[in-house]
Amino acid sequence: MKVIIINGPNLNMLGFRDAKAYGSQTLDEINEAISKRAAKIGVEVSFFQSNCEGELVSAIQNARGVYDAMILNAGAYTHYSYAIADAIPIANMPVVEVHLSNIHAREAFRDVSVIAPLCVGQICGFGANSYIIALDAVVRYNDK
Ligand code: DQA
Repeated sequence: MKVIIINGPNLNMLGFRDAKAYGSQTLDEINEAISKRAAKIGVEVSFFQSNCEGELVSAIQNARGVYDAMILNAGAYTHYSYAIADAIPIANMPVVEVHLSNIHAREAFRDVSVIAPLCVGQICGFGANSYIIALDAVVRYNDK
């Protein structure tokens, strides 16, 4: 099974952002932890990060036929990008929405996710472990 992990704007700056909301690990450290878990459960993982909406749309489109599942932290685009929402069904695979913070327990604008209805599920609030939980979840998705 091949899974792509896509991260949106400002997630390249993890480790330098509000540690209370996002923890202190860098994106490289988080990706290393995801790779370790993936190796343990026999999953092949790839990573993509961009601060640009169009590049994220292209990455989601380009995943079609190449990967079996996607883990997507669209960052602030989660809350208003209809372009990213529209790209998700084009990928034609289960997509798990992920956030390090609990987006439902913060500012009101973060409580809305325009991508949630297009995803098979949402995992948020577990810090870097949200990605690990999402990986386990997406691997089990077809067993439900
Ligand atoms: C985030 C939550 C978003 O509201 C925020 O804009 C981010 C990170 C998270 O992982 O908790 O950049 O997606």
